[in-house]
Amino acid sequence: MENNFDLIVIGGGPGGYVCAIRASQLGLKTACIESRGTLGGTCLNVGCIPSKSLLNLSDNYQKAKNEFDKQGIELKDIKINVKKMMSNKDKSVQILTKGVEFLFKKNKVTYLKGKGVLFSKNDVVLYNGDQKTSYKAKNIVIATGSYPSTIPGVDVDEKNIISSTGALSLDKIPKSLIIIGGGYIGLEMGSVWSRLGSEVTVVEGLDHITPGMDKEISKEFQKILIKQGIKFKMSTRVLSVSKDVNLINVECMDKNKKKEIISAEKVLISVGRKPYTEGLNLNKLGIKKDDKGRIEVNNRLQTNLENIYAIGDVIKGPMLAHKAEEEGIAVAEILAGQAGHVNYDVIPGVIYTSPEVATVGKTEEQLKKENQNYKVGKFPFLANSRAKVNNETDGFVKILADAKTDKVLGVHIIGPHSGDMIAEMALAMEFGASSEDIARTCHAHPTHTEAIKEAALAVDKRPIHF
Ligand code: NAI
Repeated sequence: MENNFDLIVIGGGPGGYVCAIRASQLGLKTACIESRGTLGGTCLNVGCIPSKSLLNLSDNYQKAKNEFDKQGIELKDIKINVKKMMSNKDKSVQILTKGVEFLFKKNKVTYLKGKGVLFSKNDVVLYNGDQKTSYKAKNIVIATGSYPSTIPGVDVDEKNIISSTGALSLDKIPKSLIIIGGGYIGLEMGSVWSRLGSEVTVVEGLDHITPGMDKEISKEFQKILIKQGIKFKMSTRVLSVSKDVNLINVECMDKNKKKEIISAEKVLISVGRKPYTEGLNLNKLGIKKDDKGRIEVNNRLQTNLENIYAIGDVIKGPMLAHKAEEEGIAVAEILAGQAGHVNYDVIPGVIYTSPEVATVGKTEEQLKKENQNYKVGKFPFLANSRAKVNNETDGFVKILADAKTDKVLGVHIIGPHSGDMIAEMALAMEFGASSEDIARTCHAHPTHTEAIKEAALAVDKRPIHF
């Protein structure tokens, strides 16, 4: 086998595998090292993809159980079969991870199975069981992703005290579930198990869920989740988690320093993720990291060693698969002598709950902090005809535009299909659109996207339907 490459990518997640494919397309002799045994990283194996499968299935179940009857669809004996649901999810994951392997073959990327360790700026050693193979690379990309953070002293056994990985593979519906952390993972997995019948309580250290999100959207989001049956303990930090005979005890402390113990059958810890750089030999090579353990890179995504690059969850920025993909492509293009670039101002974020929450650009709080003058246009889905006929009227669209130039600075949507609709807003922002541009774009009727057009009209106080 060939041992010399133009590029070795360490990590086969959405950042790494996309980088490898693009580099190969651009003529670089490329290998990608992955230790998991399947490609696709956290996202495809134990993250975005399996969670979306469970979110979709549990949403269908919830609608069939609680909503169809009111809409004239009468079903009897609706039951959930957790085993079938999990195998449906596993099948989708398997097909998609195999799909990446096929894309490697098609694009002539060499797939190296095992753990990659850096030995010098051009030497990578691959460990696979007892086997050790050395490779040389002109350039190296570190795309090793992240792993779940935990609470000091808490032992995650993935059976009763679980991370997102365990929450995606429970073999039965827990009677009760405590979720520590009201962020992306907690609220998506909380929605899944609450829809299936668990009594879900989210314990969040801050006074609001989804930190960093536009506060108005985050408040509305929490209201909707409460209406759906999820309970919240806000401004409450978890001090310890311990196992009793049948239950897990969670010791909490609220903002007045009052301590309380709450119990549940299972506890999900979703308090963030950490960059995964262990065992790569970064210290030995002198590759710099910041105080959060993230690899430091310049605006070309280069580490302090000029032929070693880093992308995705191991560097700064949101831990999102599509952000990592953009960085992967940018690095491949830079290495091929092109002008690879990532526009960090226009990275959408989506929470796939029901309704979905989708955002791109600046929040109102950020604009205030930056002393930027802005205008706000809002439009509720209650006044959108398509949302109304579909009985999906929760939520609204919020557009923030520069007070003087009218340039769109941020768009925040909570409502049906917002995860898909946010793409239109990302495109508009990439082209430097004004709210006037969006307002004057013809949107098909009747669609949910008309709520975007109306919110853009509302920026200048001229919505038609509200
Ligand atoms: P997160 O950073 O989104 O939320 C963690 C929450 O835990 C925060 O609200 C924080 O205040 C709270 N917290 C931390 N320590 C606590 C304590 N001791 N007691 C109570 N609350 C505490 O992290 P999460 O949900 O674990 O997600 C990790 C990453 O995965 C995120 O950065 C996200 O970008 C990514 N992700 C993205 C998804 C998507 O794009 N739909 C889905 C799932 C994950």
